[in-house]
Amino acid sequence: MRLAKYLALCGVASRRKAEQIITSGRVEIDGIMITVPQHRVKEGDRVTVDGRAVKPAGKKEYLLLDKPAGYLSTVSDPYGRPTVLELIGRRPARLYPVGRLDLDTTGLLLLTDDGELAYRLTHPRFGVEKRYRVRVKGVPSPAVLTRMSRGMLLDDGPTAPAKVRLLRRSRESAVLEILLHEGRKRQVKRMCDAAGYPVQQLRRTGFAFLSAAGLESGTYRRLGEAEVRRLYRLVGLADPLS
Ligand code: URA
Repeated sequence: MRLAKYLALCGVASRRKAEQIITSGRVEIDGIMITVPQHRVKEGDRVTVDGRAVKPAGKKEYLLLDKPAGYLSTVSDPYGRPTVLELIGRRPARLYPVGRLDLDTTGLLLLTDDGELAYRLTHPRFGVEKRYRVRVKGVPSPAVLTRMSRGMLLDDGPTAPAKVRLLRRSRESAVLEILLHEGRKRQVKRMCDAAGYPVQQLRRTGFAFLSAAGLESGTYRRLGEAEVRRLYRLVGLADPLS
């Protein structure tokens, strides 16, 4: 799309006025001044006017973060503790995490301003898969793993069937993989506690079809269009880009 049209779509000004804004040198794309109104804006370009980022109204953002320990999965904290939004440098006010990871849990966290998608991705009705790698104190027997996968009785009711398998073991601890299709508060820790094997370390390694491959702890990437479309299909929403 042409830059002038793009700015108009962003609500910066009418298309004609936008052309003047561009030719007067007030517009940059990825930090480079662009003075040609016909310049084509590409997917992923960061457009600024007078140094302030602009984007088309209604264009949603989808970021995938590898959360480090020590960050809250909230937008703000009354006690001033660090939140995941601080890892997303520009802090767009409307962006919020899809579901929660505990303060000490690491791994995949999606952030978006797409309320309907966020709602469906976290609602148990849509059963989106979450994959965790869990180090527990002690080594659960195969019978315990079967019990955990069939369902544990927690104080807010029995858990739905899950997949639980042993990845590694040592004398004092074991590493499990747990696949859940529901997302109750502190569910993995409560399931492991109820089985008698307290969690020592917890990492979310998968969310739906997304993995942390290529992401370093504390960094994020923007989802591609194909990934957003796939998430939409997964929770029964019409294609967002059509
Ligand atoms: N289950 C937990 O117990 N904690 C998390 O952070 C995520 C899932």
